[in-house]
Amino acid sequence: MTYDFTSIIPRQGKDSLAVEGIGWGFAPKAPREGFDFIPMWIADMNFPTAPSISRRIMERAAHPLFGYFQPPEAYYQAIFNWQQRHGTKGLEKWQIGYHNGVLGGVASLMKAYTAPGDKVLLHSPAYIGFTHVLEDLGRPAELSPMVKDEAGIWRMDFEDMERRLKENHIHFAIFCSPHNPTGRVWEKWEIEKAMDLFAKYDCVVASDEIWADLILPGHKHIPTQSVSEEARRRTVAYYSPSKGFNLSGLWNSYSIAYDHTLQDRMVKQGDSSHYNSLNVLSMHALIGAYSDEGADWLSQLLQVIQGNIDLVCDFVRRELPGVTVSPPQSTYLVFLCCDEYVALSGRSMDEIINAAWDVGVGLQDGRPFFEPCGLRLNLALPRSRVEEALRRLKEHVFV
Ligand SMILES: Cc1ncc(COP(=O)(O)O)c(C=O)c1O
Repeated sequence: MTYDFTSIIPRQGKDSLAVEGIGWGFAPKAPREGFDFIPMWIADMNFPTAPSISRRIMERAAHPLFGYFQPPEAYYQAIFNWQQRHGTKGLEKWQIGYHNGVLGGVASLMKAYTAPGDKVLLHSPAYIGFTHVLEDLGRPAELSPMVKDEAGIWRMDFEDMERRLKENHIHFAIFCSPHNPTGRVWEKWEIEKAMDLFAKYDCVVASDEIWADLILPGHKHIPTQSVSEEARRRTVAYYSPSKGFNLSGLWNSYSIAYDHTLQDRMVKQGDSSHYNSLNVLSMHALIGAYSDEGADWLSQLLQVIQGNIDLVCDFVRRELPGVTVSPPQSTYLVFLCCDEYVALSGRSMDEIINAAWDVGVGLQDGRPFFEPCGLRLNLALPRSRVEEALRRLKEHVFV
């Protein structure tokens, strides 16, 4: 490895919710004495990012004038080049929209195309951020549960989706591709089938593709808009270097829309807040990420993540009876199902989660994802930390 994926970097005092946010939201408590903290909850990585990013920011910061600006050609070119990795060619500047966060972009589109009280379709388990946006905007979530097939792979239930779209007169869907928290990379036929339904019930689709940089070996990201003319027309896709390169604190998301009306109406919503503007250093970070060096760093990162995923999946199968895991095809998140363990042991999810946090394993409760016995583990940590977390889970949690 050319880059550093092994150092344990202290993050305390360095603007990190992952380690400083204990006692906040989904991070209930500090470890008891004798245990250090292993952050495995919020979707944020514990590796130093690609050097091309820090370098680009520092080069720009060395020029000490930070006035109003317009994104230069280099910004758009970086996006256009990067999108070719997914086979997307011929993009034009007007099709790119800036958003202060992917969720902000999804919220803008939703405000433009729904009214308070309108239901929005999404799949469960569901990423918590979506449910927060829906709650904040007063649009009830209509959850279509995903189901595991015989091979243990999470799939959409198309019959269920259709029934819900029809019965609830739904005209807006959030589609998460790749899917958080299950880590599914949808196959082409799956996206086509979902989009056929969304077209049949005339839905505008917010396709959240924020995880598209983190596709694990053997899988391929298929942009939702690429599957048909209809999909291209009714979908806005959201991307960001924030997941692949761990730049969430820099806020530099963008959207792709091919339909003028969709683009105009969404941009209007974002602009009318008067604080949806690109930050100059974030822009340079994106250019540094979407570079040859960024691509090289990312390919090494993916090998490290795959190694951690294999380690955890083998361990769970071997050492944690009653806990099941479907290996993710994307993301650095592993979603464990403890239904059988809970039934066998008689222990509650509260007890399990408490025991884990007690010994510093800061994992995430699956209940806010609508999975009553689910646990989400973030594996974007040096392997030695993952090994230590597994040891503690075996010795102190799943006893
Ligand atoms: C699927 C998905 N969408 C959106 C986000 C948040 O994006 P942002 O911070 O750009 O709003 C996350 C963060 O984990 C995510 O997993």
